[in-house]
Amino acid sequence: MKILMITSEMDGIIKTGGLADFAAALPKALINLGHEVRIIMPKYKNGIFPVPSISDSLYFNLNHKDSYGSLVHHIQSDNIPVMLVEHHDFFSRDGIYDDGTYAYPDNPLRYAFLCKAALEYCLHEKWIPDIIHGNDWHTALAPYYLKEHYHHRPELKNTKTVLTIHNGEHQGKAGKEWLEPLGIPPWHFTSDIIEEYGILNLLKCGIMYADAINAVSHGYYGELLQPDTSHDNLWQYLHKRQSSFSGILNGCDYTMWNPASDKYIPYHFSAQVMRGKEFCKKALQRRMGLPENKNLPVFGLVARLSKQKGFDYLIPALERLLYERPPLQLAMLGSGEAHYASRLHYLQQHHPGTMSFVNGYDNELSHLIEAGADFFIMPSLFEPCGLNQLYSMAYGTLPVIRETGGLKDTVNILEKGHGNIDKATGIGFKNPDNESCYECLKQAVSLYLHNKDLYRQIQQQAMMQKFTWEDSAKGYESLYYQTVNS
Ligand code: ADP
Ligand code: GLC
Repeated sequence: MKILMITSEMDGIIKTGGLADFAAALPKALINLGHEVRIIMPKYKNGIFPVPSISDSLYFNLNHKDSYGSLVHHIQSDNIPVMLVEHHDFFSRDGIYDDGTYAYPDNPLRYAFLCKAALEYCLHEKWIPDIIHGNDWHTALAPYYLKEHYHHRPELKNTKTVLTIHNGEHQGKAGKEWLEPLGIPPWHFTSDIIEEYGILNLLKCGIMYADAINAVSHGYYGELLQPDTSHDNLWQYLHKRQSSFSGILNGCDYTMWNPASDKYIPYHFSAQVMRGKEFCKKALQRRMGLPENKNLPVFGLVARLSKQKGFDYLIPALERLLYERPPLQLAMLGSGEAHYASRLHYLQQHHPGTMSFVNGYDNELSHLIEAGADFFIMPSLFEPCGLNQLYSMAYGTLPVIRETGGLKDTVNILEKGHGNIDKATGIGFKNPDNESCYECLKQAVSLYLHNKDLYRQIQQQAMMQKFTWEDSAKGYESLYYQTVNS
């Protein structure tokens, strides 16, 4: 099959989160299954682009009045063909989605441009995909444009669309004044197309128009359909499309995240030979300015600093825990919302030698945290899939999770009475509150200090887990076939 993947980020070029990992790993796995995959994404000012590239000019109308130029650069990233859409204004900014504080106000237009460029690219190159696979709200207008703006192009009449929801919280909501710039006629400003309480909701439009929609785990799929666990009104739109909606779990790229070969960590190890992990722990303690002590449990965290990741109850739980001066260390890395960063800095200042926080985005350090920590904290409020818990299991770093979405699907929580001792791969809690989070962290400390044999057993079980992109790719492959044949 020919598949065109539209994405706003891709690992190796530019990344803010797991979508980038997905966009790099799934195409590779689909190519290994024998499919022809190309990726199209913006050529951001701060992306890292392999050379050489071949360029092509494309000119198209985004709306009825204006004409925009675009240059598409063809490159190979890790043997995957990537088309980079250049625009003199839209993508030549310092940020990807925002200026560091505020989202760019013209984001709807920037990403509508990407969607249009994707369709124009297919026609221009005479490369007609069977499937156009979009991701999140940024790409949600592609199915609409295909059906409403390109219905007169016979070349594209058999092309179908798939929309993957990685994060339903972000829906691309925009004022009504964006209708015209996006090329959407006023008679499409209706509740069964794009309108939601007087404004535009681009993700809703994608849900209404895509031939198939999927969430990145089965757990999140179920949550998206329930009013109390979905995001705003998304559950209503997904109910309307329920027969075309499914869940496909992400995978872990074990060529990048393998403690036996990871190029970013100073010592290698495996489930059979764990010695290297102790050295990685020491290296992590040094790197984070924590005392080198192999007997203390080190809790790692790598995350975007956002409400989604559970900081509203994690920080109070940590405050309480640290106040009790327990025998543990915290090695935290995150970038995002400044108010969370300042609270974490405050904790660090008041608990030097116990709590260490690096505010920033640091790929190398994220690997060292995965390798050197004993536990990985991931107490998310919601988690569509989550990749870090998969990485941490591979590194024998027990995930401490809240039981939600993809976290619940991938981590076997140690039961209270230890009934599932032979299957457990992590520690968890249910309620998104300070108390439950605090109790869970205490449980982890106690497991490490007082029941090391059980800790080691769970560690081994976690390291045996396999979540491959090959399995995910097989899920997408059958979704594509179903969609093409429907
Ligand atoms: P999300 O996509 O919601 O952020 P995931 O767990 O799916 O969550 O993926 C996050 C990805 O981004 C992982 O690869 C993680 O290592 C990486 N990441 C997140 N924050 C940072 C950071 N501050 N520094 C380095 N890598 C980060
Ligand atoms: C999103 C989700 C995360 C998921 C990632 C890749 O950013 O927040 O849970 O793993 O996309 O699908």
